[in-house]
Amino acid sequence: MALYVKNFSAGFAGHQILKTVTLRFKKNQINVIVGPSGCGKTTLLKSINRTAEMEKGFSFSGEIRLGKENVYANQDPSVIRRKIGLVFQTPVALPLSIKENVLFGPRYFGCRDKPKLATVAEHCLQRAGLWAEVKDKLDLPARTLSGGQKQRLAIARALAAEPEVLLLDEPCSSLDPASTKLIEALLLDLAGQLTIVLVTHNLFQANRVAHEVIFLMDGQVIESGSRDQMFSHPEQAETKAFFSGLL
Ligand SMILES: Nc1ncnc2c1ncn2[C@@H]1O[C@H](COP(=O)(O)OP(=O)(O)O)[C@@H](O)[C@H]1O
Ligand SMILES: [Mg+2]
Repeated sequence: MALYVKNFSAGFAGHQILKTVTLRFKKNQINVIVGPSGCGKTTLLKSINRTAEMEKGFSFSGEIRLGKENVYANQDPSVIRRKIGLVFQTPVALPLSIKENVLFGPRYFGCRDKPKLATVAEHCLQRAGLWAEVKDKLDLPARTLSGGQKQRLAIARALAAEPEVLLLDEPCSSLDPASTKLIEALLLDLAGQLTIVLVTHNLFQANRVAHEVIFLMDGQVIESGSRDQMFSHPEQAETKAFFSGLL
């Protein structure tokens, strides 16, 4: 489903971080957000899936919509967090087996059906491109996996909640080039099924995977457009300067 951010401002303890951000994230696409460190990329992702409000002093104005649903009108933020998954920069493996890492959400939400859980685990590990590597050691602790495998495990865990949107916050920044390639291929694959919003500080990665690119600076959208437009014909001086590292 498409995701709309409309006149959205947010901050912590009166300090404004996001300034009247208006954006449309297209469905079945990889929407890539780039921008200097501290410009509000993480705050934007956390605002979208309603985890920002768990932090002290958070306040916002404006609107975020998933399709027709007003994300902040829902009385129960956990419903939104299921529909809009967030994968963090540092791969998080829960102190559980590989299989139970994937099944954390379904179990939390009360699924007890063993055959169904086994199917969910296999399906999500398949979709996350990890099944072949772990199918014979599903009961081993997840900590035995490499960093790149843990990040794909985190993606599998997010997928198990059957989200409509997957947000990823610099998911490859701690990974080696081979693991990065695997995740990029996986995201391109998943883009057919989900709306993906990827934050990256790596312009080469943005150029490899983006359908749409959004350039954020100092809490404001400076420019957004298709990958070709943003990389080849940026209109704003700030965008040109930011992308000039590549040219
Ligand atoms: N929980 C918080 N409380 C106070 N300030 C925060 C909090 N989270 C982020 N910030 C501030 O918001 C600004 C933007 O941070 P962030 O969204 O993490 O930027 P980015 O992800 O683009 O590097 C930074 O100045 C940061 O210090
Ligand atoms: Mg960040």
